Amino acid sequence: MQRRIKLAASILAANPVRLEEDIKKVEMAGIDLIHIDVMDGHFVPNITMGPFFVEGIKRITQVPLDMHLMIEHPERYVNVFADAAGEGDLITFHIEATKKPGEVVSLIKSAGLKASVSLNPDTPTGLVEDLLDTIDMVLVMSVNPGFAGQRFISEILPKIARLRSIAPEGMDIEVDGGITTETISQAVRQGANVIVAASAIFKTNDPCNAIKTLRQIAEQVVREECHHRING
Ligand code: DX5
Ligand code: ZN
Repeated sequence: MQRRIKLAASILAANPVRLEEDIKKVEMAGIDLIHIDVMDGHFVPNITMGPFFVEGIKRITQVPLDMHLMIEHPERYVNVFADAAGEGDLITFHIEATKKPGEVVSLIKSAGLKASVSLNPDTPTGLVEDLLDTIDMVLVMSVNPGFAGQRFISEILPKIARLRSIAPEGMDIEVDGGITTETISQAVRQGANVIVAASAIFKTNDPCNAIKTLRQIAEQVVREECHHRING
């Protein structure tokens, strides 16, 4: 089965006082997901958006939300984020942030949302491999979480390849951090299909064009792979 590329626009690099305008732009460009970076000042050295904010975003867009919880003890907050968003939206939590990953997955699922687990650049895939059958997506961080605009850590690429080789057929593998027109092909070549970008979309003059270009590059990699598989 050919992997379907999905692009997620991280609003961490959008203009916070013109957010609605920025969201409309990426919506019109056919973005697949709005990626919301939730940071608590404990798990990561930055503080950003909470459930109140998610609720506001939900009111201005139909695009599915991709909530990236960079918070300690996600089991305490999953329900409030699930209520702020809605069925079919996605919640990602960090494996490093909880002792009860199975419980977090169940809470997300019973609220009717999709569940995903993330690993920091230094975290081995072994910590999430047992969960793969119970989740919808795995998020491989390609920067240390906390800020937009960092450099892509290419040492994480083998982790994407490993997860793709053992993941159930059709499972989404997301990559987040330092995505550019160069690094996107490296990530897709290893098996990623959900690509998060903040700076590469919002810090350009033309977010619509940036999305189009990123999508074209990623889809080209998938087509080449398909071609290789058929022609050897
Ligand atoms: C980092 C966040 C990312 C970030 C990506 O902690 O999880 O989603 O916004 O920003 P760029 O694409 O600029 O690296
Ligand atoms: Zn993120």
